[in-house]
Amino acid sequence: MTAPSTSVTIRRATSADTVRLVSVLVEAFFDGPVADWLVPDHDDRRAVYHRYFALALRHGLDHGHVDTTTDRSAVAIWYPRHEPAPSAPPEHQAALEAATGRYAPKFTLLEAMFDAFHPREPHHYLAYVAVSPDQQSRGIGAALLGSYHRRLDALGLPAYLEASSMRNRRLYLRLGYRAGPPLVLPTSGPMIWRMWRGPAGAAGPAAFPITEPQPRRRAR
Ligand SMILES: CC(C)(COP(=O)(O)OP(=O)(O)OC[C@H]1O[C@@H](n2cnc3c(N)ncnc32)[C@H](O)[C@@H]1OP(=O)(O)O)[C@@H](O)C(=O)NCCC(=O)NCCS
Repeated sequence: MTAPSTSVTIRRATSADTVRLVSVLVEAFFDGPVADWLVPDHDDRRAVYHRYFALALRHGLDHGHVDTTTDRSAVAIWYPRHEPAPSAPPEHQAALEAATGRYAPKFTLLEAMFDAFHPREPHHYLAYVAVSPDQQSRGIGAALLGSYHRRLDALGLPAYLEASSMRNRRLYLRLGYRAGPPLVLPTSGPMIWRMWRGPAGAAGPAAFPITEPQPRRRAR
């Protein structure tokens, strides 16, 4: 278990930090079951992850709150969600497909599953947290999140995240999170694309209708 780091100084990131922080995200997320599922080919993974995390960081800087440390060894991308997020604009899907190429279906599925099961109550969403692999397990991640949690505590707001392994789940439990029902990423079945054609005469392509996952009813 890591002793909490007292020497970590945290500041808000800016676009001047982009190159370094994209690299931290790529290296921190490079290994593990989610990376193996998203981009099984190791030769492709680094290039795809660079483009994907550049997009994610840009989005965080423009629309969320990005924290880093003074040495830029860590990054956390947060989004205030005071009301349910609007569906992603079509430009986002185009940018995602451009960044991830032939792996786009898995990235799209991941984002869709995360969106579908996102809590609707006001909260702040931790989309990504990463510490440079050579700096991990020294208390930096806990310090980075702790600083943001203190602000949320002062505002009386909850936080939400998706933990991608039992190991980092343990960290979040220590930081005061409670685990909810997990999601399982489909690994071997084919993907089914739900399609929608809008009414005749509409000016442009119709948006896909909003649907909610239905809770399963228990048999009485
Ligand atoms: C998860 C992460 C942000 C934690 O930051 P950190 O500075 O290493 O963490 P701290 O030193 O504050 O706390 C240590 C705890 O973090 C977690 N942790 C540390 N290294 C980890 C790693 N490579 N992968 C997953 N969790 C890790 C563990 O719970 C660890 O406690 P343990 O040693 O008792 O198992 C960082 O390890 C990381 O970037 N991991 C890879 C990317 C990732 O999994 N991000 C989170 C996605 S939900």
